[in-house]
Amino acid sequence: MAELSTTIIKKLINFFTRSRCSLLGGIIVVILFPILLVSILLDMQGIVENPYFGFLIYMIMGPLFVIGLLLIIGGTLFCGGKEDIGIIVVEYFQEQLSRPGRFTRIRRFVFLTSLITFMTFVVVGVVTYTGFHYTETVSFCGQFCHTVMEPEYVTYKNSPHSQVPCVECHIGEGAEWLTRSKFSGARQLFAVVFDSYDRPISTPIRALRPSRATCEGCHRPEVFHGDKLYVNDKFLPDEKNTHVQTVMVMRIGSGGYSGREAHGIHWHVSENHSVSYVASSDRENMAKVTLVNAANQKKVYRREDVSALVGTMEERLMDCVDCHNRPSHIFKGPEAALDEKLSTGIIPREIPYIKRQALAAITRKYSSQDIARRSIAKELMDWYRQQYPEIVAQQKDVLARAVMGVQEAYVENVFPGMNIDWETYVSFTCHINNGGCFRCHNDEFKSEDGDTITTDCNACHIILAEEEPARDIIEILKGSSSAGM
Ligand code: HEC
Ligand code: HEC
Ligand code: HEC
Ligand code: HEC
Ligand code: HEC
Repeated sequence: MAELSTTIIKKLINFFTRSRCSLLGGIIVVILFPILLVSILLDMQGIVENPYFGFLIYMIMGPLFVIGLLLIIGGTLFCGGKEDIGIIVVEYFQEQLSRPGRFTRIRRFVFLTSLITFMTFVVVGVVTYTGFHYTETVSFCGQFCHTVMEPEYVTYKNSPHSQVPCVECHIGEGAEWLTRSKFSGARQLFAVVFDSYDRPISTPIRALRPSRATCEGCHRPEVFHGDKLYVNDKFLPDEKNTHVQTVMVMRIGSGGYSGREAHGIHWHVSENHSVSYVASSDRENMAKVTLVNAANQKKVYRREDVSALVGTMEERLMDCVDCHNRPSHIFKGPEAALDEKLSTGIIPREIPYIKRQALAAITRKYSSQDIARRSIAKELMDWYRQQYPEIVAQQKDVLARAVMGVQEAYVENVFPGMNIDWETYVSFTCHINNGGCFRCHNDEFKSEDGDTITTDCNACHIILAEEEPARDIIEILKGSSSAGM
């Protein structure tokens, strides 16, 4: 056994030193092999979770190792001396076979070449396979280009889709979109290296795979249930941070299925008709809305004042992301961000005026998240020291928790490094500032026979309570009057 291994090593050295080219390859391979092996094992076990680690293994060490192997093979085949080439020609075998006692050398030779070929296949296979998949992991997409993707990664982690890999929405299945996204991905890496990317990243994303194909892998709007109760908890900017609620029945509706009629909000995604529109490039200002019904009749809604339109016009068939443009990167507004922290108790409600003071602090401009954290803490502490010294003295911990909650509300939604503030990315599943649904559902669009797109509040939701003092939901549903009314 010992003899065998020394001959193998000797043979290997012989093999590598045949030419300078393969010697270089040999050195690379010998050094990288153990490092790569251990790294890949560590990575597969998930022991090291640093995103740069994956990049180092699959994008740098892996390809380098493959280059090493190619150098060895190229070196021995093409750059070696004449005599050495003999080793792989038939005469060599004939000579070796015809000499008695030479079979062992042949065996060793065959053994050695098969071993090297096998290793090459295994390593090249593992490296390309995992390397390719590495570019599809959440860690590569979300964490590798840290500042660029941080806002999307943070908001994604706080969203209902935090367990859905980025590629499920951004690529989905199918070779065409895979190569398209890999190409646009390569362009993005280039932009990161040369620091030429947009801050903030501009939306909408045109290279996004048509969303019906991706979203419908998990959600099927045609089989959705009809109505759903929504309770939005809010807090007033008064001393008690009064808890109020907006309660409404959302007409979620359905796209129609097995003979059932399409109705409600998901009426738009029925197979039986289509809604398309022409809009400015940010899709915020519509110029024209076209409805084609089941009988293939066209109804075009136009609007007279198109002065707000900018950029190139494009016609687009409406799909999920025309409403759900923020299914995963949910940047909240300042009020909503604080209301969420207050309703979950992350910001304790017993601190007087915390909603009002926090809102003032988080809506100021800061040049970085670190500065924001410090300034928010300082502003709040200064104010409470002046106005409520007894709280600072007796409820230090509660106040500290509140300050941390307020800082969180800021850093989860505002990213000065990417120029993202409270208003950068707005959701379309609402009608704040006449955006979202009201881009089309307004009185300005008229068809030839004078119809408008409905603005009836009850077509979309039935409001049961609007910012009323919070009480038991059953009371609201039964319609009994609230304590304060
Ligand atoms: C549930 C589906 C979904 C998942 C999961 C998802 N995204 Fe997105 N993402 C979208 C949609 C839809 C848009 C398009 C927004 C638009 O065009 O207005 C988008 C937009 C983006 C943008 C453009 C900037 C922005 O905020 O609109 C980036 C960058 C991005 N995603 C990165 C990621 C990364 C990184 C991950 C994983 C950590 C991820 N996405 C996971 C659906 C998803
Ligand atoms: C891989 C599966 C998967 C894909 C793809 C996917 N989702 Fe989801 N979606 C989920 C899961 C899981 C939830 C969470 C359900 C829950 O927590 O109740 C969810 C929740 C939602 C919700 C409800 C959020 C809420 O506040 O309750 C919406 C809206 C939604 N997805 C829209 C989309 C859209 C739009 C797309 C396509 C861009 C999409 N999803 C793609 C799995 C997926
Ligand atoms: C006309 C706009 C619009 C379109 C188009 C649309 N949705 Fe919705 N969807 C909404 C609104 C509004 C809600 C309810 C409010 C919310 O969740 O923000 C909703 C709710 C949902 C929910 C949560 C349902 C629940 O029971 O809580 C899912 C999941 C969803 N949509 C998926 C989709 C998918 C997938 C598509 C594309 C096939 C789609 N939607 C197309 C507007 C739309
Ligand atoms: C691109 C334009 C466009 C956008 C954006 C849009 N809609 Fe519509 N919607 C239409 C058109 C066109 C109709 C059909 C005409 C009508 O019913 O007045 C319609 C009809 C509806 C209907 C009535 C369906 C029925 O049963 O007849 C509801 C409910 C609705 N939309 C909800 C929404 C909600 C909620 C949003 C925002 C999340 C939204 N729409 C965004 C164009 C749009
Ligand atoms: C085309 C559909 C549509 C129409 C028409 C519509 N809304 Fe809404 N409205 C929505 C959607 C979608 C939301 C967001 C629901 C959510 O996710 O909280 C909403 C939310 C609201 C909210 C709650 C906002 C909050 O602070 O939580 C109020 C209040 C409201 N609408 C009032 C009205 C009134 C009043 C009208 C009639 C003038 C009206 N809406 C017409 C779709 C519509």
